[in-house]
Amino acid sequence: MSNPFSYTGKRVVVTGAATGVGAALLDLLAEIGGPEVTVIDIKPPTGPHARFVEANLSDETEVRAAAAQIDGRIDVLFNNAGVAATQPPRTVLAVNYLALRRLSEQLIDQIPAGGAIVNTASIAGVRWPEHVTEINELLDTEGWGAALDWVDANLEAVGGDSYSFSKEVVRVWSMRSSRWSGERGVRTNTVCPAPIDTPLLKDFKETMGEQIIEWTAKEATGALMTPREVAMPLAFLGSEAASYVNGHDLIADGGFNAAMTTGQVDFSAIMG
Ligand SMILES: NC(=O)c1ccc[n+]([C@@H]2O[C@H](COP(=O)([O-])OP(=O)(O)OC[C@H]3O[C@@H](n4cnc5c(N)ncnc54)[C@H](O)[C@@H]3O)[C@@H](O)[C@H]2O)c1
Repeated sequence: MSNPFSYTGKRVVVTGAATGVGAALLDLLAEIGGPEVTVIDIKPPTGPHARFVEANLSDETEVRAAAAQIDGRIDVLFNNAGVAATQPPRTVLAVNYLALRRLSEQLIDQIPAGGAIVNTASIAGVRWPEHVTEINELLDTEGWGAALDWVDANLEAVGGDSYSFSKEVVRVWSMRSSRWSGERGVRTNTVCPAPIDTPLLKDFKETMGEQIIEWTAKEATGALMTPREVAMPLAFLGSEAASYVNGHDLIADGGFNAAMTTGQVDFSAIMG
């Protein structure tokens, strides 16, 4: 019997695999079947991969060109690249949302039924229900530049934090597009991690404050997530083992969100 978790014989695309979660995903994929992996990143990856497509995912032209370089069948597209709010809001929304959407739309015809798109979001996007009207307005805004202009005009109204907002948008986009992709037999899901011990964490400490990161990790499990602990649920959602899972937001946060939702941790305590 075939192993439903295995990636043997598959062709996979991973964005943002030079460091952190994406790098851990390359190692994990090699262990669970060694698919043919194409990496799209601004920096070269060192982990196991077959092909590297260099692209700055904040640039529309480079995103389009990168997608055009991916030929043939793709079984799983992992949209994992991300930047923090140390970058300007237009860059954050471009890399975290627009590039992810554009790659999904441009590559979907190469993903056969049974394939999957897996997006890395974040528990920072937890407030999407409060902003769903605005998010839908942004999702309905046609064109890369127009979407970024929408962000310039509306960021303050949706909380002012470009990173958290970008992840809210990814969560809603993934739910919306799961129907569009699902009609072709392609599942679209997200993983929402807690703070992870990766190079990006330094940027979050700068933008969100060290205290909140440490508090979240303490209230979750007592420790920061490892990149591998994010790579594992990503790989699961891309595998046949998740064949009936579509439009799902897998919160991988050591129980932090559950404890918040049931009033077992007091967010106001950390907010002073
Ligand atoms: N680190 C955390 O605490 C945390 C928490 C929740 C979610 N996430 C999300 O996890 C994902 C992976 O982040 P990470 O923590 O591994 O960080 P990381 O900085 O180690 O990895 C990000 C990857 O994206 C690539 N990248 C950055 N800007 C790019 C650009 N303009 N064009 C192309 N590639 C670019 C980087 O080269 C790198 O390979 C991101 O989507 C991030 O938002 C991170």
